[in-house]
Amino acid sequence: MEKIVSLCKRRGFIFQSSEIYGGLNGLWDYGPLGVELKRNLKNYWWRVMVHERDDVVGMDGSILMNRAVWKASGHEETFSDPMVDCRSCKARLRADQVIDKKGVRQCPNCGGKDLTEPRAFNLMFKTYVGATEDESSMTYLRPETAQAIFVQFKTVLEVSRKKLPFGIAQVGKAFRNEINPRNFTFRSREFEQMELEYFCRAEEGMLLLDYWLKERLKFYERIGISRGKLHVREVPEEERAFYSKANYDIEYDFPFGLQELEGVAYRTDYDLSQHQKASGKSLEYFDEETKQKFIPHVVEPSAGVDRTVLALICEAYAEDQAPDEKRKMETRVVLRFHPRMAPIKCGIFPLLKNNAQLVEKAKEIVDLLRPHMYVFYDESGAIGRRYRRQDEIGTPFGVTVDFETLGEKDATLRNTVTLRDRDSMKQRRVAIGELAGTLLADIT
Ligand code: GAP
Repeated sequence: MEKIVSLCKRRGFIFQSSEIYGGLNGLWDYGPLGVELKRNLKNYWWRVMVHERDDVVGMDGSILMNRAVWKASGHEETFSDPMVDCRSCKARLRADQVIDKKGVRQCPNCGGKDLTEPRAFNLMFKTYVGATEDESSMTYLRPETAQAIFVQFKTVLEVSRKKLPFGIAQVGKAFRNEINPRNFTFRSREFEQMELEYFCRAEEGMLLLDYWLKERLKFYERIGISRGKLHVREVPEEERAFYSKANYDIEYDFPFGLQELEGVAYRTDYDLSQHQKASGKSLEYFDEETKQKFIPHVVEPSAGVDRTVLALICEAYAEDQAPDEKRKMETRVVLRFHPRMAPIKCGIFPLLKNNAQLVEKAKEIVDLLRPHMYVFYDESGAIGRRYRRQDEIGTPFGVTVDFETLGEKDATLRNTVTLRDRDSMKQRRVAIGELAGTLLADIT
């Protein structure tokens, strides 16, 4: 993890938030490359979950909502972690972190045994809407995106004219005042979720839960996370919310252990029923065929953007051996991102920066590829160094414009370039006219 965290900072993937002021625990900023990686992930999720399906539509709800939403959903009452204070070192600990030595509770920080009883600590951030700061103007930053989908269920159903089963997808920020943010971005206080609420009839719920688990596993493989690093955990009843009939966690084998990437949960009709009861507005579905009215059930695949980005980086990080300028083998750090996810798709290099013809041709290629993908032009330093810099940030392809491109030695090679593959480091000649098509086949 140390190597990954340091690479992330050095190459502009992820930095500590407010760093010049000493940072703020559990909060992170994504730099120029991190933001590209994150966008590629979110866009691909949207493509697979919304655009490539007839039965899902999207929405983008507000982060602040009426406090009544959080009362009805149960978050105000129960979205909490049990906490214990150590009276000796004053540390506040999650109850499950307290060491139990033969029935005696001990502080993991100082070893002290003078601990308070567990007390509930709500994870939602409070805020006030409007000029006055009192109970009547208070609400919370949303701790999940799902509730906006539930409260707009009826409106979206009407405007989209969908029939059951159908889903509403959303990607957006969520906030939790985590007691113990840790493992880099894994447990943050501000993060993004990619959530689908898939509404169905009660009798379809269990089958759809298994369907969505399979779909979501396929998704991870399609972004380059190997199946061998994923683990499916069936969440036992005692760990599930009382309304949840079944629940899978998709876990990834991070360097710090097997940890949850995504939850695929069968939430029954709990959320819609709660909002119908609390708001007094009908959230029922009318079945044209049977003429029955009922509250749909819901299956929810809920993934974390930041956790998936971290998994992508962990999965991609590799060190191998490659020849340096003098053909001596050296250690190469390479991020083997799937080309779909890679922040930059192609590096474009004129062999020499002081040759006007090479530079001009390379810039023509930049203009040719730019409408299709994010490319990076680099003319500084030896070509091997330029390749290495791109390897380290996971750019899957490198195009070099050389004297062959100008047709100086062999006229048949005019307007061809060297296309280098990041992983195999193999090079082949490709006609400039075929470049976009060749690269697009891998990155889309
Ligand atoms: N709507 C259901 C829901 O929010 P969750 O298991 O609490 O369920 C879903 O969260 C996903 O959101 C998690 O699997 C994880 O990927 C991400 N997530 C939750 N808390 C997080 C945190 N503190 N930091 C980063 N990601 C988090």
